[in-house]
Amino acid sequence: MSKVHRGKQPGMLCQKTWGFPIIALICALAISGCATVSSDHMGGARRFDIGVIGDTQYTAEDEKKFLNVIDHVNQSDLAFVVHVGDFQGDYGGYTEGDGMPPCTDQTYLDRRDRFNAFRHPLIVTPGDNEWTDCHKSKTRRFDPLERLAKLRELFFRGDQSLGQRQLKLTRQSNTDPKYEKFCENAYWIQSDVLFVTVHIPGSNNNFDRTPEMDREYAERNTANIVWLKQAFELAKKNGYKGILIFTQANLNFEDRWPERNIRNQRIGPSAYKKSGFTDFLIALEAETIAFGNPVALVHGDTHYFRIDKPLFDSKTTAARGGSARGRTLDNFTRVETFGSPGAHWVRVSVDPEDPGVFTFKEALVKKNLYLGK
Ligand SMILES: [Fe+2]
Repeated sequence: MSKVHRGKQPGMLCQKTWGFPIIALICALAISGCATVSSDHMGGARRFDIGVIGDTQYTAEDEKKFLNVIDHVNQSDLAFVVHVGDFQGDYGGYTEGDGMPPCTDQTYLDRRDRFNAFRHPLIVTPGDNEWTDCHKSKTRRFDPLERLAKLRELFFRGDQSLGQRQLKLTRQSNTDPKYEKFCENAYWIQSDVLFVTVHIPGSNNNFDRTPEMDREYAERNTANIVWLKQAFELAKKNGYKGILIFTQANLNFEDRWPERNIRNQRIGPSAYKKSGFTDFLIALEAETIAFGNPVALVHGDTHYFRIDKPLFDSKTTAARGGSARGRTLDNFTRVETFGSPGAHWVRVSVDPEDPGVFTFKEALVKKNLYLGK
């Protein structure tokens, strides 16, 4: 099902052609050239590896470390790479002069150039640092919604991924006029496995801050849930072996855990009075149960690498009081990427013939190791 396209596709929403100002330089540096193809196109092998990164380049030091990440990733044979958002610092914590200033056009363009330095297709989903939190600047005022429009213009046009080798994506904006603004929500298929990005940023999914932001949240939340359900529908209809979902936000699965598990894991109260993730988590649980095949979700946001099984079947937890352990769904895995100041990546091996489909492994970048001294 998957295709690797090297040309530009005409005419849709969110379209326009891309500029690749540093491609010539990167091609000159690339280990194995700029025209490799995915494993599907190499002798029919159905298993392949992908890379995931997120929460990168918060500071000047991070910006240097990211070049090591690009170099390391480019030495690996990968079908594609996904960045799960927060590709710059949070303006609330930014110190003038320490790296490029978050939320500016200049930084967005720099990050786009750096994404295009990957020799693999590069897909990105937006994080809170890219728009939700841009109002936090003490020195410059940014309107989050204006910044979101700019992101869509710069990162999500056309039906191709970023990166030197491109991947054709199906964008939600092109599937239904009702959701024409959501060009950042995308899916693609390789070896009977479906990959889908859903635009859920940290900072509580932009929910419960101002009435204007709540309107944005409500519209996008509806679109996201429709998109998630469509992805599962497609996977069921076509008999796909697994689904891998990418979001930026840590969805705070623990907010729906049984009390006993919360106590046992020493987890404190929720950071938000009203969660912006509840609707999505309810839909995710129902869809994962109905699908039955492996589902994984990779996110960033809280900068803490982990692989676990945090999605409880609420039938086993509801109305059972504080002593119930509940049951986690064995076919659901969550992975969180490394995040600043850490600068490594996660390798996902995808084997549609394996009962688990997905295997996750840390990929430590030697030049970026922190060993406590
Ligand atoms: Fe972050």
